[in-house]
Amino acid sequence: MARVGMPRKFVFVCLNERPEEHPRPSCTRRGSGNVFEALREETGRQGLVDVKVIASGCLEPCMVGPSIYVAPDDVWYGGVTVEDVPLLVEQHLANDEPVEFLRIGREEFELSPLAGRSDLPPGEIPPI
Ligand code: FES
Repeated sequence: MARVGMPRKFVFVCLNERPEEHPRPSCTRRGSGNVFEALREETGRQGLVDVKVIASGCLEPCMVGPSIYVAPDDVWYGGVTVEDVPLLVEQHLANDEPVEFLRIGREEFELSPLAGRSDLPPGEIPPI
């Protein structure tokens, strides 16, 4: 039985938004707002009062957003859609088994919006 009090898990959902012309994509433009709302609804529907879904700023793996970080499990997800939410909530947030096909790691953090662009010098990324 879930207890109210200190959350068992925190789910950070990136809701960062950048201008369309910015070279780095942003999660809000990829639908993270709907994913955030779906996570809140589904955790409520499944009675997970000990899981806290939190709106976050940029979490860094912008190239594969919408990005989500689950603590204290230290699990990263990328490309999450509204359709993925029921599985993510039931399998991971309720039963502690991460959803492998949605997981991302170090490689996704190192993706660059400038990859393959020879017209810009390396490191020429506008601030977030
Ligand atoms: S904009 Fe979402 S991770 Fe950077």
